[in-house]
Amino acid sequence: MLADRIVQQTQWVDHYRPRLRSSERGQVISVGDGIAWISGLPSAALADILEFADGSRGLVFDLAENLIGAVLLHQAPQLASGSLVSHTRLNLSIPVGDALLGRVIDPLGNPLDGGAAPDCDQRQPLDGLSPPITARDRVNQPLYTGNRIIDTLLPIGRGQRQLLIGDEGLGRSSIALDTVLHQQQQNVRCIYVLIGQKRSSVLTTLDTLRRSGALAFSTLVVAEARALPGLQYLAPLAGCAIAEAWMARGLDTLVVYDDLSTHARLYRELSLLLRRPPGREAYPGDIFSIHARLLERSTRLNSAHGGGSMTALPIVSTQQGEIAAYIPTNLISITDGQIYLTQELFAIGFKPAIDISRSVSRIGGAAQHPRIKQESGRMKLDYLQFLELESFTHIGAKLEPGMQRQMTRGTVLREILKQGRFDTQSAECHLSWLLAFNEGLLDAYAIDSIMATVTLLGEQAHASHLSLDHPRDDWLKAIRHWLPEVATDEPST
Ligand SMILES: Nc1ncnc2c1ncn2[C@@H]1O[C@H](COP(=O)(O)OP(=O)(O)OP(=O)(O)O)[C@@H](O)[C@H]1O
Ligand SMILES: [Mg+2]
Repeated sequence: MLADRIVQQTQWVDHYRPRLRSSERGQVISVGDGIAWISGLPSAALADILEFADGSRGLVFDLAENLIGAVLLHQAPQLASGSLVSHTRLNLSIPVGDALLGRVIDPLGNPLDGGAAPDCDQRQPLDGLSPPITARDRVNQPLYTGNRIIDTLLPIGRGQRQLLIGDEGLGRSSIALDTVLHQQQQNVRCIYVLIGQKRSSVLTTLDTLRRSGALAFSTLVVAEARALPGLQYLAPLAGCAIAEAWMARGLDTLVVYDDLSTHARLYRELSLLLRRPPGREAYPGDIFSIHARLLERSTRLNSAHGGGSMTALPIVSTQQGEIAAYIPTNLISITDGQIYLTQELFAIGFKPAIDISRSVSRIGGAAQHPRIKQESGRMKLDYLQFLELESFTHIGAKLEPGMQRQMTRGTVLREILKQGRFDTQSAECHLSWLLAFNEGLLDAYAIDSIMATVTLLGEQAHASHLSLDHPRDDWLKAIRHWLPEVATDEPST
């Protein structure tokens, strides 16, 4: 036995040929603010993953002549100047698949909900390419939000990118969250990305999703305000990658980026720390392409590619309603429309505080159901005319009888369009109030009873067998039957 082993070993020595084996080693020069400067590693490229001696990792973010700027992906208290760094030859990716449903994860796919690591057998690159034009289809299916203003006047289609823009605290997240809750019956998987938010906001969002049952078809991607800046920067890319994998399987998805102003600020912070030249408002010049690349990945695939879709609802903050600031204008030009919320409307109790005159949906109309489209066709114009008329009455102008009627109808419509939180409505409910309003059936009601009447109509429409495709007369007959008692009880205005 021993003799055999000795023979084998001598054979190995006989065949041994000395050869040079090179391996790159880098060294941390300095570390701080979530960034490490590294020397060495001449073959490192942008977006490569590096591994530090303590096992933590960083992402190559900047290549200077002799130094590499890397953002840290893990908290690494032991990391200090002099620590060794090696090249992993890996690119950043995240585990994707059905195991992520109902989970709360960080942008690298690590669980944050106390559960086990999601059991996924597929990974998706975080910074993937957007689908080529030949794989895309037109946006032609509606994505119902359950919101009366959006579904009728600013419709969103599956695969659309619709911006939620406004000052802080005006209800942008509420619209996005209500939209997610409304997908319960719509067969749309949702990814809610929270970027740089307080722990309390994260917990409120999670609690809302959990209590409503929406977490079952959703994934929450969280990088809190106190997470490393590198992780916060990656959060929207992670949410997009998760949706992308479902879209590739032919499923419909919805991603909420809450919010991209914080994301832009983080990118500015990282860029300034990496000593990149600042541009407008001190943002680095490539922030536009970062957001454009992210949102370009949202689309609707054609049937040859499975027919899946990724709808995006990015949120952006303005200050004092200033939409001409750098990041808001960038995002307005990248997206397919915007829903603009204003402080003035919020203050007078018009909630959701959507400014209909300054909001637009550029492609959703093509995806709207013809019945809803037909009934809401003139409504935006009429409503805007009413607002103009109303401003005349404020300066004491006298109105002709025709205009007075326009005022009454406008006031009724304004009342209908107010909507509380967690009160989303189906397309059939929308059709019921649209028809009632267009036929003037609501004009006789006292203004403060309009909301209750519309709710009642919605409940009846929901419980009835009528669908959007039923003839208009059938709907009107049913609506008249649902309304009378309420109508006769109320004094006319
Ligand atoms: N339709 C609504 N009806 C009544 N209250 C609402 C409505 N929408 C939002 N609110 C209330 O307005 C407040 C702000 O809402 P929300 O947090 O969604 O705004 P935001 O724009 O996301 O704010 P933030 O800047 O904090 O992210 C919340 O208290 C919310 O309950
Ligand atoms: Mg918010």
